[in-house]
Amino acid sequence: MKTNTKKIFEYANRKNVAICAFNVSNLETMQAVIEGAIEENVPVIVSASESAIKYAGLNVLVSMFDALTSQTKLPMALHLDHGASYDICKKCIAAGFSSVMFDGSALGFDENIAITRKVATVAHRHDVTVEAELGRIMGVEDAVVSKSSILTDPQEAQEFVRRTGCDSLAISIGTAHGINKSTSTPKIYYDVIDGVSRALTDGYPLVAHGSSCVPQALVENINRFGGNIKKSQGIALADLEKMKKTAICKINMDTDLRLAFTSGVREFLSTHPDVFDPRKILAAGRTAVKTQVKTMLALLSK
Ligand code: G3H
Ligand code: 13P
Ligand code: ZN
Repeated sequence: MKTNTKKIFEYANRKNVAICAFNVSNLETMQAVIEGAIEENVPVIVSASESAIKYAGLNVLVSMFDALTSQTKLPMALHLDHGASYDICKKCIAAGFSSVMFDGSALGFDENIAITRKVATVAHRHDVTVEAELGRIMGVEDAVVSKSSILTDPQEAQEFVRRTGCDSLAISIGTAHGINKSTSTPKIYYDVIDGVSRALTDGYPLVAHGSSCVPQALVENINRFGGNIKKSQGIALADLEKMKKTAICKINMDTDLRLAFTSGVREFLSTHPDVFDPRKILAAGRTAVKTQVKTMLALLSK
């Protein structure tokens, strides 16, 4: 059942777990996420970035999501990930997304507030929830920056939420986007999570981006079947389990699903050199993604 994130975060708070938000970009990855959540019997957030929307088509993604979720009572959201403008948020709201993220983290504080508030006004009119971002979540090359300049400041977060009316807030806590998050196990700043959480109302949902754990078994399997993935370092599973017990209600993963898909397809093609039916090839990717999705849902959402 398509819902905004309100019910979903109520579930997370009630059970003291985190909801997984997985990025999808085609039929097979969306099927893997939704079927995986139904099999694990937990809510899930299906995320599409602007580039995923460009790849698959806005209305195609909404139609697939509606068809795949029409038979389940589990709350599921279709969410715009890292929307860079008011316009893309508005387009997604009009097309049928139930949740949008406006990412103004690269803007100045006041400009981020102004656009987030504008997005929230139109979104709330359509019962769509809004995620915003404060602080900067880095890629590995930018990680060596002083703590205060990249991590989210609790007092700023308090003012930001009050002035924007956003429904959840992505914060910078030491995670990073992509396959190589750090030269060693990334340090998660639990003091920042706690500080921001204390500055906001009880149960206010915080969001962790860049949370893929980059399973080395997937990286090794890709390389075993002809791939060439060099350095990789994800978030420790122990950290994700610890994060789920904090005010972090939503944990974002994209890289891990890409790795799973590639691993499944590469292995299938290498071991079935005679097969040329796209359905069989893509089904191998879909199965591998579903396995990864179910593993993370069992760990984080139960
Ligand atoms: O956090 C960003 C996601 O990984 C989206 O990546 O724009 O390549 O779809 P993408
Ligand atoms: P990863 O690159 O760690 O999968 O992060 C994805 C993400 O944050 C999507 O918004
Ligand atoms: Zn992200």
